[in-house]
Formats: sequence, structure tokens, C-alpha cells
Amino acid sequence: MSASSEMPYFVKPSVNLSPEEKATAYDQAYAAIIATIGDEADDTMKMATINCLLKTFLPYYYWVGFYLVRNGRLVVGPYQGTLGCLYIDFGRGVCGTVAATGRTKIVGNTHALEQGKEHIACDPNSRSEIVLPVRRADGSLLGVFDVDSSVEDSFDEIDQQWLERILSIFG
Ligand code: SME
Repeated sequence: MSASSEMPYFVKPSVNLSPEEKATAYDQAYAAIIATIGDEADDTMKMATINCLLKTFLPYYYWVGFYLVRNGRLVVGPYQGTLGCLYIDFGRGVCGTVAATGRTKIVGNTHALEQGKEHIACDPNSRSEIVLPVRRADGSLLGVFDVDSSVEDSFDEIDQQWLERILSIFG
């Protein structure tokens, strides 16, 4: 896998935040998300809006989007960033592993994983990642939510807590 590739004009390199800066940014993003789609029912509308507002407030969000469960595999849904892989099988890559286990995964250095098996590089610029399960009210798996950064070690438990809160909007 090539170490990196040229970023298209519409994507900027990630910039990590301190824990304090992160908490402030998520607070603002959460308020904007609730104000915009708080009581909407349409999942596609909610997904597209969440991607946009999180990418607006969090400068290390290089790629952000949803993979949805369709016929026993994952299919790319609404996202912002460079070209996303179209399909991901359960158990493959970070997304497929989270879909199979139902547990969140935080990866500090994606290039340290076995490519094609533990990690799928839709874009070689991805250096760290967080993937969370997304559930409906009945607990069934709607899909997974995936965020990539173009620098290492962008994600931690602060991201996990805020994203679990935001993604509960689908439950
Ligand atoms: N890296 C993910 C694939 C999706 S891209 O990041 C958009 C994975 O390993 O599952």
C-alpha cells in the first residue's frame, strides 16, 4: 500500500485537538445537530446532516460516514470525504469487525494493521480511525459509523462517548 496519496482540493489534512478543545468542539457540534435534526425521522437526512456538522466542528475528521447493513454485508451510505469503498464484508477491516462483534474499535495507527484483513484502506491517507455500531430502537444493527483521520492517534474515549450520544438518535 502506498504510504499516502495526493489529497483532492476539497479535503484538508487532519489537525489533532487537545482533550479540552475536543470537548468544546463536540459540545458545539452536538448542539448544532440537535437544533437541526433533533426530532426528524428520516435516517438518510439525519446521517447526511451528522456527517456535515461533525466535519464542520472537528478538524481531524478526514473521512466521516455510515456503512449500512444490506443482505448480510455492509454497503456505503451517506459520507463526506474521499471515495469510500462500496462494500465491506462482516468480519473484514475495522468496519466489518465492528459489525460482526457489535463493539466499538479505536485504531491509533491503521498502517500497523494487516491490510485487507484487519484494515481496509479506501484511502492510504487514513492513519487513525474510530468505528462504532449504530443500532435501531429494537437493538438491531442499522450499520456502523466510521471516522478516519490523516494523522495517528486522533481518537480516544472522548470521541467514543460523544459519538455514542449522537448515534443514539437512531435508537
Ligand atoms: N478503513 C475502513 C474501511 C472504510 S474507509 O475507512 C472509508 C475499514 O477498515 O473497515
